[in-house]
Amino acid sequence: MGYDFKNKVIYQIWPRSFKDSNGDGIGDLGGVIEKLPYIKSLGVDAIWLSPVYPSHNHDYGYDIDDYCSINPEFGTMEDFDRLVSEAKAMGIGIVMDLVVNHTSSHHKWFREAVENPGSKYRDYYIFKKGRKADDHPGYKLPVTTGTIPPNNWLSAFGGSAWQKDKKTGEYYLTLFTPNQCDLNWANPEVREEVWNIMRFWLDRGIAGFRLDVINAIAKREGLPDSGNPKKLNFPFEHIVSLPKTHEYLKEMHEKVLSHYDCFTVGEGMVTPLDAVLKYTGPGTNELDMMFQFDLALIGCGPLGKFDFRKLYHWTVREYKDIFDHWETGVEKGGGWLGNYISNHDQPRPVSRFGDDKKYRRESAKALAMINITMLGTPFIYQGEEIGMTNCPLEPEEWKDFEAINDYEMLQSMMHLPAPIAKKVIQKMTRDHARTPMQWSGGDNAGFTDGHDTWIKVNPNYRQINVEDDLKHGDSIIDFYKQLIRLRHLNDELNYGSYRMIAKDNPQVIVYLREYNDRRLLVAVNMTGKPAYVDIGETEYKKGHIILGTHGNKKYSRYLSLEPYEGRIYRVSHSD
Ligand code: GLC
Ligand code: CA
Repeated sequence: MGYDFKNKVIYQIWPRSFKDSNGDGIGDLGGVIEKLPYIKSLGVDAIWLSPVYPSHNHDYGYDIDDYCSINPEFGTMEDFDRLVSEAKAMGIGIVMDLVVNHTSSHHKWFREAVENPGSKYRDYYIFKKGRKADDHPGYKLPVTTGTIPPNNWLSAFGGSAWQKDKKTGEYYLTLFTPNQCDLNWANPEVREEVWNIMRFWLDRGIAGFRLDVINAIAKREGLPDSGNPKKLNFPFEHIVSLPKTHEYLKEMHEKVLSHYDCFTVGEGMVTPLDAVLKYTGPGTNELDMMFQFDLALIGCGPLGKFDFRKLYHWTVREYKDIFDHWETGVEKGGGWLGNYISNHDQPRPVSRFGDDKKYRRESAKALAMINITMLGTPFIYQGEEIGMTNCPLEPEEWKDFEAINDYEMLQSMMHLPAPIAKKVIQKMTRDHARTPMQWSGGDNAGFTDGHDTWIKVNPNYRQINVEDDLKHGDSIIDFYKQLIRLRHLNDELNYGSYRMIAKDNPQVIVYLREYNDRRLLVAVNMTGKPAYVDIGETEYKKGHIILGTHGNKKYSRYLSLEPYEGRIYRVSHSD
C-alpha cells in the first residue's frame, strides 16, 4: 500500500451539522462543497465524512439503509462525485465512514430477512430462538410472552441487545439502537457484500475508510451469557477483538484494500494497546491505524462515559500517564494511532479538558498543540478550530438516542434521581458535538439561510464563530493552520520517535519528537494556573521556539508557562 498516512492531517465532518446549502436546516454535501476552500485553507489532507448514506436517523446515519447511495437529505450521488473531484483538485482526499457491524432495520437485506425467513438474507443477521422464561426462574430480564431473549447481552445504548421478530417469535441481535441489526460476519456472503461496497466507493476515488466499531464484528460462537446470567451485561468478552475479527480484517485487506492506494482507521470499543498492535502492527495486514479511547474516557467509571462514579474528575498526571502508555507502546510495537481530542461522539474538548470560559482560546490552542504534535495521525473535529463549547440543552432538546435512552436507564437501572441523571447526560451527551457549526454571528450562526435548524444552535454563536475568530488578533483557526503547517514541514512530527520528560510534573506535559538528528520539544501547561517545569539534565542544551501560544519565549532548562501556554522548541546540543 503506497498511501503515506503518517504525514496526513484529517478533518472530520459530521455533515448534518456542518453547512446547510438549501435552507432546510440540515447540513448537506452542497454545504461541504461550499466550504472546501475554508477546509483547504486549514491545510488538511483529507476529510473524514461521517455517514452520508440513506438512513432513518435512529442513530443519525450510523444506521444505514443502503450502502451504495446518498441520503437525499444530503444530496445526490452527483453531488458526492463533485465533492470527491473538487476536493481532489485541492489535494484533499475523502474518507468514507464504513458502518458494517450492523445495518439499519430498514435495509433491504433485513426487510427480506424478516419478511421471508426462508430467504438467504435470514443468515445475513444473527437470529436466534428465545429461551423459555419458565426454565429460568428468577431471571431478571424483561419477559415477553413466554420467552426471554437468547442471552443476557446488554446493548451499548442500554436495554436488552435483542429484539423480537414478530413473525417467527425469534430474536435478532442489536448491539446498539434497536434499529441497528448486527450482521453475521461468519457468513462468507456477508463478507463478499462488504468487499463489494468498499470497492464501489474506492472506485469512485475516495482515499479510504473509517471503520465503525470494527473490533466487534465477530461474535463468540454459541452466543453465551456474559457474566452474571441474572443481569443484563455488555458482552465485551464475547464480541471484542475475537480471533475471527482479525481473520476477517486480513481477508478485507487481501481482497480489497491491498488493491487500492488508500488507508483505513479503525474505531472500536475498548481497544487496549495489545489489541491495537494486533490490528495495526507491522506485517499484520489489517488496519493502518486505530483510535484509542482511554483519554476520551478519563474521569469516567469502568462502565463508560455515563458511569459518573468518579464524578468526571481527572488530573494532568493521569492524562500524562495514559498518553505516555499509548505513545510509548505504539512506538515500541510498531503500530499506529489516529489521535483526536473530540469527535461526533464526544463533548467539546475545551469544555471537557480545558476551560470554556476564562481560558477558552488558550485551552483550545493548548489541546490542539498536543493533538497535532503527538505520535500518530491527527484528526480534527469540526468546530475545534474555533474553540466551540458544549451547548446548554434541556432533555426536550436532546436528539441523540444514547442521551434519551441512557437518561431513562440511569433512573431505572442505577436508581438516580432525575435531576442528577439529567446532569450526567448534560455533561457527556454526544449532542454537544452535533450542534451546528458556527460560521458567523448572523442568524443561526450562518449555518443555514432557513428559519429552523434540526438541532439547537449553541446560543454563544454571536461570540464564537469562524468569521469572528478570523478577525481576532489571537485567532484559534490561524493557530491550527500554523500547527498543521508545522506538522507538514517537520518529519519529526510525522515519523519521529517519542519520549516524555518531566513525567512527574503535575501541570505540564513535555515530550521530545526526534527524527534523523532533528529534535523538537513540546511543552504544554494543561492547567489554568501558571506552571513551572524543570525539563531536567537533557542533552539538549540549546533551543529556539518555532511556535508558541503566547508568543516567542526563550528556551532554557527551566520553563515558566502561563495558564494553558504551549510551546514547541527546536532543540540541539550545539548550534
Ligand atoms: C460508533 C460511532 C457512533 C455510533 C456507533 C454505532 O461508535 O462513532 O456514532 O453510534 O458506532 O454505529
Ligand atoms: Ca440541507
